[in-house]
Amino acid sequence: MGVTRRSFLKASGLGYLALEAGSAVAWAGSTISTNDRIRVGVIGCRNKGYNVLREILRTGRAVCLGMCDVDDEVLQRRAAELKKDTGQSPKLYVDFRKMLENPEIDAVIVGSPDHWHCLHAVYAMEAGKDVYVEKPLANSIHECNLIAAAAARYGRVVQVGQQQRSGDVWNGLMDYLKSGALGGLRRVNCWANFAYGAGAPKVPDSAVPEGVDFRLWLGPAPDRTFNASRFHGNWRHFWDYGGGLMTDWGVHLLDMALWAKEVTHEPTKVTGFGMNLSGLDRARETYDTQSVLYQMDDFLIQWQQNGGIERGPYGKSYGVEYVCDKGTVVADREDWTLYVEGKEGETEQAYAFKRRSGRSDMELHANNFIDCVLSRDKPNCSVGLGRNVALYAHFGNLLARTASGSLEWNASRQQFLSNAAANSLIVPEYHRGWKLPVV
Ligand SMILES: NC(=O)c1ccc[n+]([C@@H]2O[C@H](COP(=O)([O-])OP(=O)(O)OC[C@H]3O[C@@H](n4cnc5c(N)ncnc54)[C@H](O)[C@@H]3O)[C@@H](O)[C@H]2O)c1
Repeated sequence: MGVTRRSFLKASGLGYLALEAGSAVAWAGSTISTNDRIRVGVIGCRNKGYNVLREILRTGRAVCLGMCDVDDEVLQRRAAELKKDTGQSPKLYVDFRKMLENPEIDAVIVGSPDHWHCLHAVYAMEAGKDVYVEKPLANSIHECNLIAAAAARYGRVVQVGQQQRSGDVWNGLMDYLKSGALGGLRRVNCWANFAYGAGAPKVPDSAVPEGVDFRLWLGPAPDRTFNASRFHGNWRHFWDYGGGLMTDWGVHLLDMALWAKEVTHEPTKVTGFGMNLSGLDRARETYDTQSVLYQMDDFLIQWQQNGGIERGPYGKSYGVEYVCDKGTVVADREDWTLYVEGKEGETEQAYAFKRRSGRSDMELHANNFIDCVLSRDKPNCSVGLGRNVALYAHFGNLLARTASGSLEWNASRQQFLSNAAANSLIVPEYHRGWKLPVV
């Protein structure tokens, strides 16, 4: 199919038609062949961005036209891997703005560090692209709001990379919890204990590695000399780029708490603390030990993180525990187990849910994105859901960073009540010429 028809579909604001494999659909006086594939570009190829690209290509309904990364070693390595595995040779870019100028690209995967998500996603939507943006939606409350506003303004499909929303385990569990079989759900405990959550070992500043455009990696963040412990992967533990385990895992797991009661409103009352208790002298600003309690309308959500260790409740390094009147369900990405109230010894695996499709959360999530690009439906993890849970996670970090003890939120004003310190962190300061997008 030519670019012209595709451009027409975009310009019409009506979007693409959903196609079943092997079918053809009459559209505006012409016929769209099912051989037509969604043309994607990816920004940030080192780890998750490339993983998402592969899943999207595996759907058989997409082709890669562009790969962008500010580290030439990453870019060349991933491009060679893609060529070997799929035979595809997309155009390579260092500057994402150049890639977004390509009108043939329909959809963009944002796999960059969190501090870049807002600019990458909003500029992509402004350029008429649909977006698969990795979680957390953005690195601040205001940037989350801007991405959601851009999706509405430009009418783009946005899938947020919280793949559990598409997964068998969690969908089956939500059906079960909502069936009422366990009576009322009164509390959800989420935890994430990971060694990496204590930060990377400290290393001295060094020269920028050859082939890295470090200024473009920093983007809107403040100027810094290069340090490997703040760079690839390790950026997660510094406020300028990420939010530690609280946002990294928080959005995945807190989302499973909100989903259980179909909560779509912003957090209201939150209490909690962040401390450094591991004794590990690592490169981080985020906290190795953190607890947050969310007061919901008719239940409580609790978050706990312990960076530097891997053991957790029920022998799981991460998980979600749903405490209901007639039993407690404990879930992770592989399975869930029911502990029946009052029937010690009777459980557990007997009730455990088994995966139905044999397809991974990522495979299902990528397919759902392509389905929605074609149908213009809302993806399983819409921008609204991604924004909402990102706020829950950011509130946890704002509590800890301001040592406020508790926070109350005025959703209509998008401000915390009587807390200037927390309010000062809602909108990030952009540096070196980068401006918050105007939507
Ligand atoms: N959904 C999940 O399960 C999951 C898992 C891991 C990571 N993630 C998310 O994916 C995102 C990336 O994480 P990661 O682990 O892949 O990080 P990473 O540091 O390994 O990779 C990020 C890549 O982005 C590149 N990059 C940085 N700035 C860029 C720019 N301006 N233009 C183009 N490329 C740029 C870097 O050079 C690097 O190659 C994060 O938001 C993270 O939270 C999600």
